[in-house]
Amino acid sequence: MSDTVTVSPSSVDLRVQLGRLHLANPILVASGTFGYAREMEHLVDLGRLGGILPKTITMAARPGNPPWRTVEASAGLLNSIGLDNDGLEAFIEHHLPYLAGLPTAIIVSIAGRTVDEFVAMAARLDREAGIAGLELNISCPNVSGGVDFGTDAGLCGQLVRNVLSACRIPVIAKLTPNVTRIADIAIAASEAGADAISLINTVQGMAVDWRKRKPILGNVLGGLSGPAIKPIALRCVHQVRQAVRTPLIGIGGIATIDDVMEFFVAGASAVQIGTANYYDPTVSMKLLDRLPAALSEAGAASVAELTGTLQLPARPSADLPSKPSGT
Ligand code: FUM
Repeated sequence: MSDTVTVSPSSVDLRVQLGRLHLANPILVASGTFGYAREMEHLVDLGRLGGILPKTITMAARPGNPPWRTVEASAGLLNSIGLDNDGLEAFIEHHLPYLAGLPTAIIVSIAGRTVDEFVAMAARLDREAGIAGLELNISCPNVSGGVDFGTDAGLCGQLVRNVLSACRIPVIAKLTPNVTRIADIAIAASEAGADAISLINTVQGMAVDWRKRKPILGNVLGGLSGPAIKPIALRCVHQVRQAVRTPLIGIGGIATIDDVMEFFVAGASAVQIGTANYYDPTVSMKLLDRLPAALSEAGAASVAELTGTLQLPARPSADLPSKPSGT
């Protein structure tokens, strides 16, 4: 990025590279907020998106958690869906053919209960055409064991390493903010060879009906998303950027072009739009319309020129690892 060179919006290069994953632009839609995309085709030009992450799939079908599964919170949304999905083979049969035909990157979000289950899913999906990457959901707070791999650096590293050796497609680890030091988990994913790291998944929370003296969510606890968690997500991206060189995908309360630019400056190479899709399904199109002018205003000819350009005060921040790790 240069202060002196003027970049015209039309000359901005929107392409981004996340490890082995090449995207036409850095605006993706987050898993669980866009269904399996077909239901959005009348609202959104799906081919314009940098990538689509369908709802997380598991090896076997899951009915999900009991109602209520969602409740609005101040500046956010609590959900406890419980990974409701029809299972891997149903996804391959009913959803993948449509998704694979779209002119955008399809990144399949998978969750397993064990390393072997993750590996088996990755190996099975590797045999299918039209999948640009896998996102390992090791951060769902709403299922038993859902965050085990995302809260233990050793387990995270082992999982990423084993999945990478079972498939040829790029692998992304999606991290939870519900840990003491997210950078430690990111270092493990990075050293294991993850192509990229997505952060953050939802922040664990709950809602209470005081008149009934009951929790509102059927599963008692849920995950908070939306504008309320953006500062937490920015903090996590910043801390992880200080710790690893692996490309980062920022997630958490992104709804405006300023939000997108903040995540790039903090260290993200791409972003996923999540909760905002629920109240404005066309938000990703608006962000794509505005992105070239915003990058031009920043004097950046590409996203890479802006990524991680945050200027820190001279004194070192607390709670940051001292040395970057990984590729
Ligand atoms: O409950 C859910 O299905 C949420 C999934 C997630 O946050 O990854």
